[in-house]
Amino acid sequence: MIKKGELYYPDKNFQKKALINNRAIYKKASANPVKFWEGLAKEIFWQKKWKKAFEHKPPYFKWFVGGKINITESALDKNLEEKKNKVALIWEPEAVGERQRIFSYYDLFREVNRLANALKKMGAQKGDRIGIYSPMIPEVIISMLACARIGAVHAVVFSAFSPKALQVRLQDTEAKILITADGYFRRGKVVNLKQGADEGIKETKVEKIVVVKRAGNEIFFQPDRDFWYQDLIKNESDWCPAEAMDSEDPLFILYTSGSTGKPKGCVHSCGGYGVQAKFTAKWIFDLKEDDIFWSTADVGWITGHTYSCYGPLLNGATFVIFEGAPDYPDPGRWCEIIDKYGITTFYTAPTAIRMFEKYGVEYPRKYKLDSLQILGSVGEPIDKAAWQWYFKEVGREKCPLVDTWWQTETGGILITSLPGIGPFKPTFAGIHFPGVNFAILNEKGKSCKIGEQGNLVILPPFAPGLLRGIYKNPEKYLETYWSECGNKIYFTSDGACKDKNGLIRIVGRIDDVIKVAGHRIATGELESAIALHSDITECAVVGVADEIKGEVPVAFVVCKTDKSAENIKEEVVRQIRKEIGPIATPKEVYLVKDLPKTRSGKIMRRILRKLFTSEELGDLSALSNPESVEEIKLILR
Ligand code: WT7
Repeated sequence: MIKKGELYYPDKNFQKKALINNRAIYKKASANPVKFWEGLAKEIFWQKKWKKAFEHKPPYFKWFVGGKINITESALDKNLEEKKNKVALIWEPEAVGERQRIFSYYDLFREVNRLANALKKMGAQKGDRIGIYSPMIPEVIISMLACARIGAVHAVVFSAFSPKALQVRLQDTEAKILITADGYFRRGKVVNLKQGADEGIKETKVEKIVVVKRAGNEIFFQPDRDFWYQDLIKNESDWCPAEAMDSEDPLFILYTSGSTGKPKGCVHSCGGYGVQAKFTAKWIFDLKEDDIFWSTADVGWITGHTYSCYGPLLNGATFVIFEGAPDYPDPGRWCEIIDKYGITTFYTAPTAIRMFEKYGVEYPRKYKLDSLQILGSVGEPIDKAAWQWYFKEVGREKCPLVDTWWQTETGGILITSLPGIGPFKPTFAGIHFPGVNFAILNEKGKSCKIGEQGNLVILPPFAPGLLRGIYKNPEKYLETYWSECGNKIYFTSDGACKDKNGLIRIVGRIDDVIKVAGHRIATGELESAIALHSDITECAVVGVADEIKGEVPVAFVVCKTDKSAENIKEEVVRQIRKEIGPIATPKEVYLVKDLPKTRSGKIMRRILRKLFTSEELGDLSALSNPESVEEIKLILR
């Protein structure tokens, strides 16, 4: 890497070999983004070509209208032509001694077809939603693809979400089939996932459960309802015709946190999402024939969908997935995996980088890590120290570090510097992906000047992979994304600014969403969970800075009974784990007599947030109860 001032550039050698190394692509794409994406769309397989590339009826838009496609044909069938025996997927189990499992494109193709046939026999049809609640095992990828094969819409729910969180999502999708596993390994212990699934399907439409045998733990099994995955596919044919999908038909629903309590089901399309997944993966991770790509995100998140399933497969690439915890059995585990498989591109989140930074340099220094060529970061702003540590200790100062901005809603990476072009600048994600038009707008709706912070928005024609709606909730779709700046501008809810080179820095969310270890959590979601506690009359949750997790939630609660602070904390934590899952556990729960409020009764979360920073509280005279702030200050001392 070459350093010029604050900027880093790929060296000549890297640049020469990179798939994209000429800046001209940006200009070409901007001149006619629709034509640009159309050109890319031609490189994936369509059963029938589209009639119109882009159609806009605000707040709705369509890509590749009239086209017929099945994404699994490009991801699997097409790869059989030249890559039949190429390794597609490597699965690394948590236990160090256990054998990895390796699937060639042909293996994966057959397994997906078998499961697709089995799902059909179970009654699954095009357009049906199918829930997936699974650990990181090959069968989760196979399940997603099998759904796509038959035109069923998969809705993956993160396996560490609580049964209650699963239930809410299953209710919304009205799925009749759920695919899960008996259990999985986490830090050497077996987690009984099936038990969670059994609980989660209560009061839902789920009639059948497909259970992958993974951990061999004892589970409750209801013969007419539960089916072993391994039995189901045993006698199925290796061939299942790929359902003809409309380009705009939904491929999957993935739930994410909105500013209110209820999760939003982001709907992604077959055609546009596929095109974007392929080319963002290809160009940003510079996927070439011999590369081995590893994205550490769980399939429960959008990163897992796009870069641990569709993106690599659409490029005929080899990729790794890992079942376990990053630091188990010791903090060298990830480095060991990098060396073991000769990972060339490694994609992870700042929170993990900060955790390893804390464990110490002795871990990465014990390993060679010399196969690495590109590093990636995603999920939250990466601070300078973490960037430098990652760049130096993991990338050994020779790997371009792509800081990639995107959202569950955008379906794929939309802001980053391309590895063969650069420049890379710590704390700046980079520039728009070719063919995507961003702006940063101030309160008056005008473009911000250099350094001025404003709202990050996407302008037409947006991106082919941007969400098409919130499942069964058009009002929320309109209100969340298409109201702030009018119905022709997509509002990201992120604050951003540009430097003199045009590089975009993401400052963070401007709504009530916090990023806890990269996971997106709405403070409103936590508040709704806490409010279910019968002794609690009022509560407020705010995000505060954390050295490793970036941000963590802290809760303030007002109780009607006289419970001890200790007890209430325990109960609130239990409540949140039950409603959402351990990732949302608040760092602190403060029992207070009153919450700061305006005269109209609105809780002033902004003041609570400021109590954790060095910022001035400002004028409190507008509050109806300024004394509440004094009380809270005493508690925090
Ligand atoms: C939010 C979206 C997209 C996959 C994982 C997160 C924040 C994401 C970056 C980055 C600064 C980032 C934004 C965004 N974010 N990437 N490179 N730098 N912030 O998906 O859970 O839907 O969260 O994550 O605030 O809006 P998500």
